Amino acid sequence: MSILSLRHHPDPVLRRKARPVRQIDPAVRRLVADMVDTMHHNFGVGLAAPQVGTSLRVAVIEMPEQPVVVLINPEVVKRRGWRQVEEGCLSYPGYRGEITRSEKIVIKALNLEGETIRVKAEGLAAQAMEHELDHLNGVLYIDHLEDQDKLFPLEPELPQQAD
Ligand code: NI
Repeated sequence: MSILSLRHHPDPVLRRKARPVRQIDPAVRRLVADMVDTMHHNFGVGLAAPQVGTSLRVAVIEMPEQPVVVLINPEVVKRRGWRQVEEGCLSYPGYRGEITRSEKIVIKALNLEGETIRVKAEGLAAQAMEHELDHLNGVLYIDHLEDQDKLFPLEPELPQQAD
């Protein structure tokens, strides 16, 4: 297993619609393991394959205190409600933005065993899933900004003042 390097905006792989996985073979299992390592290394709550340069419909999500959820060829089955959220992305570092996300979401996907799973999520978990599914369609959260002034640079730490 290894930590993969992250692709950053404006890398074109982030704008491509990713291909479905046809067969969950050792290469896909290896990709998932590497994505989990890479997500942990970067303290992310989720990661999509295009972010490590692989245009395949694979995403991993890990909410605090929860096991990793592997989503292969995920599809949104249902969305409900909306809420304003603050969001960031490992592929667009240095910024946070205010956008609208669904309150609740139901996703259908395959797991690593090739079984169909349905995942229900709400709040932060729903936000993370929508964010990662967007990546598989070449969409970044900055595309959802209503206005450029909803994008905030993260302040670099102020140097200590010496009196
Ligand atoms: Ni992202």
